[in-house]
Amino acid sequence: MAEKLIVGMAGFGTVGSSVYQVLKRNAALIHTRAGKQIEIKRVVCRKTDKVILQTQGNVIASNDLNSIIDDPSISVVIEVMGGIEPAKTFILNALKNGKDVITANKALLATHGDEIFTEARKQNRSVFFEASVAGGIPVIKALREGLAGNQISEISGILNGTCNYILSAMHKTPLSFAEALKNAQQLGYAEADPTFDIEGLDTGHKLSILTSLAFGVPFHFDITAVEGIKGISSLDIQFAQKLGFVVKLLATVEKINDRLSFQVEPTLIPQNSILAQVSDAMNAVEIVGDAVGKTLFYGTGAGGEATASAVLADVIDIAKGHKSIVKPDSATVVTFLDNNEKRNKNYIRFNSGSLNDLTNHVLPTLEKHQIVVEKIEEINENLVLLTQEIDEKTLQKALTELSQTYCNQLSFTRFRLAKNVN
Ligand code: HSE
Repeated sequence: MAEKLIVGMAGFGTVGSSVYQVLKRNAALIHTRAGKQIEIKRVVCRKTDKVILQTQGNVIASNDLNSIIDDPSISVVIEVMGGIEPAKTFILNALKNGKDVITANKALLATHGDEIFTEARKQNRSVFFEASVAGGIPVIKALREGLAGNQISEISGILNGTCNYILSAMHKTPLSFAEALKNAQQLGYAEADPTFDIEGLDTGHKLSILTSLAFGVPFHFDITAVEGIKGISSLDIQFAQKLGFVVKLLATVEKINDRLSFQVEPTLIPQNSILAQVSDAMNAVEIVGDAVGKTLFYGTGAGGEATASAVLADVIDIAKGHKSIVKPDSATVVTFLDNNEKRNKNYIRFNSGSLNDLTNHVLPTLEKHQIVVEKIEEINENLVLLTQEIDEKTLQKALTELSQTYCNQLSFTRFRLAKNVN
């Protein structure tokens, strides 16, 4: 009898059902490439009737995660449920029962990755996670294999399809934030709880995973270094366009004198840069290495089939006997910059008080704090400034002083400008 790889899958939402469908559609070529037939034997999820219908009764559907853990014929589990629990316990139990794991769960890896990979090493099992970052783009493989000979100095990327879809819709059409989010949910891009997308947490989780792999550091998710897109108005999008920029939720990690600057924030990117052309649910990741220089990876960042593409690549790797062992580099001692120490160029829009009054107060206050203004524009009764690079501590001090001068009547919006994007 031909050799088979028997798989159990936890989760049958957008991603899980696509994994099943793509595996069925491409069964022959996957068999050839894997050298084995791949069989999804069991699926565990809440809606078992959906599984039975979509698989025509060809898998055993259940609500009980232990039915996968306790099945000795299953050697690989795919976790596409998302969330921390019960996913974490399921993965740890699968490893303890001698199974290899494939997961798309970025939130879990970013926050409990060290515990999971420690258990995997203890059990001499693999945890593959290509689908956890940037959907169908094989960026995990790129970092761990193709770029393995490089010292990485910087990663910048658009890592959340939902946010990129919403921002693209706000740039292209007068669509409101709420309408654009609804469309993204209908298209299957958003998380079960879309606040993870729009508050930047999902992007932060993905950047944490890339950071750990690129710099050999333990998984580090700093929620205070993450800002989402909820505060972006169509006014700022219009003004950014007038100044030659596009607003993107940009994730960056940069090595500065042996310390890492980790930021996820709405960012103004020059309109003529490649990253500015990345629209809708597409993702892009730029990785800079000392030998290779700049590399750019682009592709579909969210949605069932793109994510299934990454999951199935991991299934084929396991079938071929490949291992995935993650271990922080003990020789690397890297610390992270505090938010106050981070340096950025900034876009600041002041929108209250008379324009003259603003100009008379704002500019001298910024000058007093040695914040150099590169460009000043008056657009529709708003004062818009672009500053040169300045540390966050000084900027916040100046903005607080201005707020106090205006008895907190002054309102302003501030975004960073991208530094080195192509
Ligand atoms: N909600 C995620 C996104 C799904 O929009 O990018 C893919 O990780």
